[in-house]
Amino acid sequence: MALERTADPDEVRRAVRAWQAEGLTVGLVPTMGALHEGHLSLVRASVAECDRTVVSIYVNPAQFGEGEDLQEYPRRLDEDCRVAEQNGVDLVFCPTDRVMYPQGHATFVVQERLTEVLEGAFRPTHFRGVLTVVCKLFNIAPADRAYFGQKDFQQTVVVRRMVCDLNIPIRVRVMPTVREEDGLAMSSRNECLTAREREQASCLSRALVEARRVYEGGRTDAGALREAMRAVIAAAPLARPDYVEVVDHETLEPVSEVTDRAVAVLAVRIGRTRLIDNMPFGPSASD
Ligand code: PAJ
Repeated sequence: MALERTADPDEVRRAVRAWQAEGLTVGLVPTMGALHEGHLSLVRASVAECDRTVVSIYVNPAQFGEGEDLQEYPRRLDEDCRVAEQNGVDLVFCPTDRVMYPQGHATFVVQERLTEVLEGAFRPTHFRGVLTVVCKLFNIAPADRAYFGQKDFQQTVVVRRMVCDLNIPIRVRVMPTVREEDGLAMSSRNECLTAREREQASCLSRALVEARRVYEGGRTDAGALREAMRAVIAAAPLARPDYVEVVDHETLEPVSEVTDRAVAVLAVRIGRTRLIDNMPFGPSASD
């Protein structure tokens, strides 16, 4: 089936409802485009598990703060659609700002606690923007399943919380982080790194590997793991950590003892680019 592309929410809802009326299941993959292998792993999971797959491509201004990289964010819709089609996507929803936030738009999804820590502490309006657009996308494309990446761990936690709290009838699936050969988690923002920054950007994943090594060596005090991660980051001269933590996978509270509920999380600025990564210590729950 050829790929359809539309900016019209009503068309998307009609298509999803029509498929479901035929007894077909529908997967939704929300993205901001500039598709890479990380995004495509979600697309492939949806294509494998659902009869039809919708990908949304929208650089959501509401989740970018003052002075963040909204203007620089890479945009290449035609290429993204080509890649989406090659990977079995049925429908791309690519709305404009006017469609998503028309004049008079005044309703936002605000979540307490979970959005105030980690990323939320450094990007205070970020999750309000993410949850608002994700909630809108879930209403526009009322799919059976929605696919998110472990790469943005806190995003998966706050989206699951919203789906539960607001009784949204969609199953959230979380897929493992896809990495470059040196371990760097794939991200559209990696394109912003200079050659020297790119080399040092592997310090995030190297810090996580080091934390696992220390843990597997028998240390379970989170303080020791934090120190081990900090030492790896400190050895990269261009790296400036925002946070390096070990937290509970549900509450996002820092833990003192590492169990299989713990996740190591970090955010590091490399030059002007801010990168995040994480590693669950237990088996990562996919749904
Ligand atoms: P974006 O950064 O485009 O990411 C879209 C989805 O791809 C997210 O669920 C993200 O976690 C996943 N992803 C990105 N890099 C990945 C990687 N290396 N491995 C696995 N999955 C990866 O996240 C967003 O957009 C936005 O916040 C969005 C949810 C679309 C709301 O605007």
